[in-house]
Amino acid sequence: MFFRKSPEKFWDLISSFYAASPINDETAYQTKIQKIETYLAVENIVLDIGCGTGTQCFDLAGHIKQAIGIDISRKLLAIAEQRKVERKLGNVEFIKTSLFDERFKAESFDVVMAFYVLHFFEDIDAVFKRIHGLLKPDGLFIFETACIGEHGKMTGRILGGLGWLGFIPKINNLTYRQLELSLEKNGFNLIEKTKFSDSSEEYTLIAKKILKK
Ligand SMILES: C[S@@+](CC[C@H](N)C(=O)[O-])C[C@H]1O[C@@H](n2cnc3c(N)ncnc32)[C@H](O)[C@@H]1O
Repeated sequence: MFFRKSPEKFWDLISSFYAASPINDETAYQTKIQKIETYLAVENIVLDIGCGTGTQCFDLAGHIKQAIGIDISRKLLAIAEQRKVERKLGNVEFIKTSLFDERFKAESFDVVMAFYVLHFFEDIDAVFKRIHGLLKPDGLFIFETACIGEHGKMTGRILGGLGWLGFIPKINNLTYRQLELSLEKNGFNLIEKTKFSDSSEEYTLIAKKILKK
């Protein structure tokens, strides 16, 4: 029903509203971008999962060789393409595809980013394993996600119910502890966990690919 089997329709439906929404805490966002820049190098190739309208790709493009943003929403990507032209950025590419697209080769990215999208994946272990495989040795995984499991059982049940009914895309119920355990299990070393905004519940996590034990 509704968005249960086709979450991309949810994002297509709200694309104009989403694109017009301002960043919650602009100062904190800029601080975060500056922090991420310190981890980037001009030769880096970066994959941004769930790039939406391309905000982070654009803001980091000046510090890297190439950004590839992927997303499931055709309409959000169309807005990203339009903004790319306005910003005159030649090193950003957008593709409507999945993280598991076989065209992405092993060890082909220096950095993988995922902002506010990992809570939409059912199997976080499979996602972390895939990202580990896509990263070059010592590559970085930078992400921020809603952790519904931190918000108490009632929030989890309400969002779970809405997702199950198909009113919103399905959302997982993960906690930071579970994310950190999954990172470790899938060959990552957490090197930074920072909360940039006092008005937000979310942390930005930066993890480095290490060889699996
Ligand atoms: C909350 S928005 C975040 C967009 C962007 N990362 C940002 O921070 O502005 C979530 C995005 O994830 C995308 N998305 C949802 N499920 C996805 C999936 N399985 N694979 C790739 N993108 C997905 C949505 O289309 C949407 O653009």
